[in-house]
Amino acid sequence: MQVITTADGLAKALDAERAEGRTVGLVPTMGFLHAGHRSLIERSAAENDVTAVTLFVNPLQFGPTEDLAAYPRDAQGDQRSAAEAGAAYLFAPLVEEMYPGGAPLTTVDVAEISEPLEGRSRPTHFAGVATVVAKLFAIAGRGRAYFGEKDYQQLAVIRRMAADLSFPIEVVGCPTVREADGLALSSRNVYLTPDERAVAPVLHEALQRGRSLIEQGERDPAVVNAAMRAHIETEPRFTLDYAEVADAVDLSAPTRLAGEVRLLVAARLGRARLIDNVQAVVPSASSESSAASGADH
Ligand code: PAJ
Repeated sequence: MQVITTADGLAKALDAERAEGRTVGLVPTMGFLHAGHRSLIERSAAENDVTAVTLFVNPLQFGPTEDLAAYPRDAQGDQRSAAEAGAAYLFAPLVEEMYPGGAPLTTVDVAEISEPLEGRSRPTHFAGVATVVAKLFAIAGRGRAYFGEKDYQQLAVIRRMAADLSFPIEVVGCPTVREADGLALSSRNVYLTPDERAVAPVLHEALQRGRSLIEQGERDPAVVNAAMRAHIETEPRFTLDYAEVADAVDLSAPTRLAGEVRLLVAARLGRARLIDNVQAVVPSASSESSAASGADH
């Protein structure tokens, strides 16, 4: 695996690969790689001739009171992990390489999809994400790019950004990797104390409760949201941010549930802010009596 620190270096390396007829997969990350990140790298390595992992803790997507300075880092471990998972290139630029003139004057703002849920607590977050991912797409060029459903709203924002701005990149969503007790893997889980870690799966349990209500035929989003909220509130260490069922494509709040929907939660637990989501499929009127299934993402 070759480590590259300049945008020009990555662009030239990937151009040379494509000139030889090889396909390129891109896996953007902020590092501190875990099995969730590795699943994206392995998928890209299986579906493309070469995979480039990017490792950049992007200051633009952190709010002024968020954990930019404390964000966990492990440059050595990430190099090993990315290589073992099948990356051919690791792009690890300094902040000055990505933002040479300081914060960019040109930013990418994906309206509407960025506004609900995460957007209400983190109003500048998705513009920071969309801007850095647009830059990474511009540097990397034609190919596929892999993102986790763990950050479901982010995936929706990036899909829309890539389509709206005509990037020659196919955005591929990948299922959430979880611990055995249901907790979604996250670099931020290192912030949890052992006591907090023990109660953290309550978040995923709340999503499963919401999903089973829907599978039993519940059509009122308010009932589903209240049930998820009530479950999270059984554990007083959580400070709930949101627990909502949303449209699976544009993340809007439905008035009545139908088709494929997404259940999403966010809560603070000690120093960590945790997010998670699952899919649910509302049984159609004809299949209402039979059990409906929703994949556990
Ligand atoms: P980061 O949090 O490092 O995540 C990098 C990628 O790994 C994202 O696509 C995320 O959804 C995916 N991922 C994280 N945890 C996962 C899990 N448990 N299962 C499957 N995939 C998982 O997301 C970011 O970085 C940044 O916002 C970024 C897109 C790199 C832009 O800066």
